[in-house]
Amino acid sequence: MSSLPGSAEGTAVTGLDSSPVQPAPADLPPLTEQVRVEAREIIARYPQPRSALLPMLHLVQSVQGYVSPEGVALCAEELGLTKAEVGAVATFYTMYKRRPTGRHLVSVCTNTLCSVLGGQRIFDALAADLGVHHDETAADGSVTLEHAECLAACDYAPVVTVDYEFYDQQDVDSARELVAALRRGERPHPTRGAPLTDFRGVSRQLAGFDQYGGAAPRAAAVDAEGDIGPTLAGLRLAAERGESAPPMHGPEQPPADTGEPRETTRPSGRTGETPDEEAADARVAAADNPAERAGAAQAHPDKGAEYGQPRGRQRAGTENPPAAEPATGTTPTDGKA
Ligand code: FES
Repeated sequence: MSSLPGSAEGTAVTGLDSSPVQPAPADLPPLTEQVRVEAREIIARYPQPRSALLPMLHLVQSVQGYVSPEGVALCAEELGLTKAEVGAVATFYTMYKRRPTGRHLVSVCTNTLCSVLGGQRIFDALAADLGVHHDETAADGSVTLEHAECLAACDYAPVVTVDYEFYDQQDVDSARELVAALRRGERPHPTRGAPLTDFRGVSRQLAGFDQYGGAAPRAAAVDAEGDIGPTLAGLRLAAERGESAPPMHGPEQPPADTGEPRETTRPSGRTGETPDEEAADARVAAADNPAERAGAAQAHPDKGAEYGQPRGRQRAGTENPPAAEPATGTTPTDGKA
């Protein structure tokens, strides 16, 4: 159970987490009028104001380093929500922090693949160096350390991110050196992707604002090169083996226009269908699994009929409801074999 940041007594609970909400430290930067202006800019991007809540919470974090009680109140006021509603969202997602973060957020993947390749050993070593546990910040304010669930980069395991930028295929020594460099104030370049900034900088980017200060540095960041070799390993192996994916079933081409009437008796013996309808029937009938059949049925020009069946055999109760049976006073199961 957890206190919701911004709730009047600080005692509202969600049952999602046991972390206490840390009160605002004395040196917390205030949320200025400029922040409100930018919050309204975010709101204007959406047809429904409340859709702006997620980037607004990132905006709060870009200024204060976490979702503070003041930040919850600002979002609630601007969106016409209650603080409890804002808090319920802020406490659901792990990217929203309830205590002030350090200059950098270091996330160590300890899910299955990374863990068996050393992710847990990396986390333990960093925790010992920093003197912290999960979701705690080093005493010098440089780094907040956290366990992370799969970071969607299993082909680079074990993976560490700093402010959501990737540092691939780490081991204990390389991760310790990475964190030591961060604590010295350096910003080692990520293995791939944009250059490293800091937690507040990337939070601003997640709120939809530029953190690069101009078109040229932004373009350089977006176009940054990276090693994507591991991601392409499967493709390379398939090419070496001469393997390829089975062909996709594209839409069949209608026969060339011969000038003859197009609605006629088909090879199947059915009449009254255009070539497109009969081809669609054939695609439904040829589907060899329920998902493929459903997809073919959705694309059928006669959507709603019993596809792949000759006309006149559609499902009862759809196009041709059967005539009502006279009441007999028997149960529905009477008369069955
Ligand atoms: S298990 Fe670590 S990135 Fe997927």
